[in-house]
Amino acid sequence: MVAADEHPRTAVLWLGAFGHDAAVALVDASDGRVIHAIAEERLSNRKHDWHFPIGGIHECCKLARQQGYKIRSVAVNFRAEEFVEKSLHHLIDQCVSSSAIGSEVKQFLYNGLPQLEYVDIEARNQPALRLQQFLQTLVIDDASKRMLIKRITWYWNWAVKYRQIEQTIDRYMDGIPVEYFNHHQTHAASAYYNSGFDSATVLVIDGQGEADTVTAYSASDGELERVSETRWPHSVGIFYLFATQHLGFTMGDEYKVMGMSAYGRPVYEEALRGMVTVNSDATLQFIETDYLRLNDLGPHGHVVFQFTEKLHQLLPARQPGEPFEQQHFNFAASIQALTESIDLKIETLACSPKWMSLSSVPRLRRPMKRSRSTSVGAARPNGSTTN
Ligand SMILES: [Fe+2]
Repeated sequence: MVAADEHPRTAVLWLGAFGHDAAVALVDASDGRVIHAIAEERLSNRKHDWHFPIGGIHECCKLARQQGYKIRSVAVNFRAEEFVEKSLHHLIDQCVSSSAIGSEVKQFLYNGLPQLEYVDIEARNQPALRLQQFLQTLVIDDASKRMLIKRITWYWNWAVKYRQIEQTIDRYMDGIPVEYFNHHQTHAASAYYNSGFDSATVLVIDGQGEADTVTAYSASDGELERVSETRWPHSVGIFYLFATQHLGFTMGDEYKVMGMSAYGRPVYEEALRGMVTVNSDATLQFIETDYLRLNDLGPHGHVVFQFTEKLHQLLPARQPGEPFEQQHFNFAASIQALTESIDLKIETLACSPKWMSLSSVPRLRRPMKRSRSTSVGAARPNGSTTN
């Protein structure tokens, strides 16, 4: 218990939600120590539970109270504005050839984001009508308008969902500030600040953050500086997911493919290898080949990977429930070998002293002030929370 006149210790509540595997962590704001961390699935009994982690929040708040902590702020591992700016804007540029019209569309979105309203085209709600009316004013063909509606709606609603965390938190924890941080930066901070190293190279490889898929950081004296970044759709994580689906599994089952790989031989690795290359600046690039297509759009206007007919001839997709054959284990082994070789190449480049010094050219360097801005990083001794 803390006496009323005693100054309570402060903590930051970190949230990961809506992507997959929602989780909450309570971090001491004075030294960055993780007091408690829990995955929502442990409380809800729902595997890979991605919903808003109300159970984890409740547990962390209870613990904070018991240990005399005052929660200073809530940190969220995703920046909706950056998601719209980097990912959606890129897609708008693909739809609209005129840069003036493209800017008009982007401005329309910027003006709307603070309103935090979902666009529901089928229900023809107010935001949907506003969007459709706006698009009618643009001098573009109908196909482009349809594509814009598809893309804007999907990306927009995803961003709004994140921004609404603020309202939800406000409902339960009145007046607590909510801060949003770059997704890859939170990965890097959690790795670096818990590593015990003073200087390190930090590499983040995942499916996708706001737009980032692979990032490298130079870290020293408590500072993280991003020195390389790869953006969607060049994602090894999504490629692995796509291969997982080809084997009849779904998102979250990647570990099964990894397990299967131990029972196969990488006989398809050579055929798959041409699909991806690692550039000398440690960025990743997927390339369309006879086996892979990149630009086929999914139902929501999102770029997806697609294996070609030729790859299906090499290895037909396994349907869920079908028996496993040796070729499936061989495919898993091939994907695993390819992924590991990509990771190793990126790691080798990112850790190379020569490359690290070369990477300080302006093209690669994007100064990021203080990266002590995640759940762990935000709670550094000097309390800096800039990002
Ligand atoms: Fe991630």
